[in-house]
Amino acid sequence: MIELPKFKIGNLEMNLIQGGMGVGVSARNLASAVANCGGAGIIASVELGLLRGYKGNKIKANQDAFRDEIRAARQMSNGVIGVNIMRALTDYQGLVKVATEEKVDLMILGAGIAKDAPKLVGDAPICLVPMVNDARTADLITRAWKKHNKVPDAFVVEGPKAGGHLAYSFEDLVNNTAPQLEDLVKDVIGFANNPENFKNPVPVIPAGGIYFGQDIAYYHKLGAAGVQMATRFVTTRECDADDKFKQEYLRANKEDLMIIKSPVGMPGRAIRNSFLEKVMGGEKIDFNCKYNCLKTCNPKESLYCLMKALIEAHGGDFREGFAFAGSNAYRATPESCLDADGKFITVRTLMQRLSDEYNSP
Ligand SMILES: Cc1cc2nc3c(=O)[nH]c(=O)nc-3n(C[C@H](O)[C@H](O)[C@H](O)COP(=O)(O)O)c2cc1C
Repeated sequence: MIELPKFKIGNLEMNLIQGGMGVGVSARNLASAVANCGGAGIIASVELGLLRGYKGNKIKANQDAFRDEIRAARQMSNGVIGVNIMRALTDYQGLVKVATEEKVDLMILGAGIAKDAPKLVGDAPICLVPMVNDARTADLITRAWKKHNKVPDAFVVEGPKAGGHLAYSFEDLVNNTAPQLEDLVKDVIGFANNPENFKNPVPVIPAGGIYFGQDIAYYHKLGAAGVQMATRFVTTRECDADDKFKQEYLRANKEDLMIIKSPVGMPGRAIRNSFLEKVMGGEKIDFNCKYNCLKTCNPKESLYCLMKALIEAHGGDFREGFAFAGSNAYRATPESCLDADGKFITVRTLMQRLSDEYNSP
């Protein structure tokens, strides 16, 4: 079997990074399966306690569930296991502490500038990778981390075609006027390779809309060390969401991928369904927020509870839920994602396909 080329972040070696997907879409099963195929398997830290119905204190329930997912993934693989922690989470610091105690290999920090991450992680041998959306944010975080004698071990550059919340304006996303990933990646590579900024070049990892092996080859040629991919991993057997969540991807046409205004004050990309039509049309779904899980959410003004919607979707109930997805989710078809028995293909099959595509221009 020809494998995808490997690259290094710190002392870790991998062939790609599987992007963290909340709530519970990338947990122990997906992360360990990817790690067993030479990739970095990433567990999304957001609201894992809710998947178990929040037994006891909510913060503790989330932390305990997160710890359990990391431990389980470690037992299922000797490969590279990392986590995705969003700065915007109310308990961001607590989750960083758990991941540090559990000695994950890699911490990917998104949704805000995690200025204090090196201080929180201390001397633990963990690669710290901020998600940025341009060279300016890469510079900002580098300056903050240098104050703690730390530089990023890599940069993930997430462009406007990614799934989930996006760091671009709603108008730019809808009108397709946001800067393109290839331009952003070139800028960040310029910054990361400049000896005035870093003693050694810092690996740059593009994300957002990378779907086929040919896309990986394209970004390698552009000078990226590797790529981060999420959407394509949803339609695998090991993805931790219910099969009905994965079937939403099979159902989606190109026109179904829509930009939504999320209650947390950011736009996001998701698959159109009747629930989204309802709330985007201004209908309010009453809820009682006891938790305030995201710093940027104002429950009084929100039309619905985002976390509740994502949890419902994770379990396969779309009456009051929806699926986040990247712009290429519509490419998933039953022919490409199901095997002869009608089951979703395994991560190993997907990795083999990516490698075949990579090698057939
Ligand atoms: C279902 C879904 C959930 C996601 N959840 C998160 C998340 O919790 N935190 C985060 O930083 N990024 C999240 N993302 C973004 C991915 O980690 C990744 O960077 C992005 O989707 C890559 O683009 P692609 O999906 O086109 O490959 C999510 C993406 C999807 C599709």
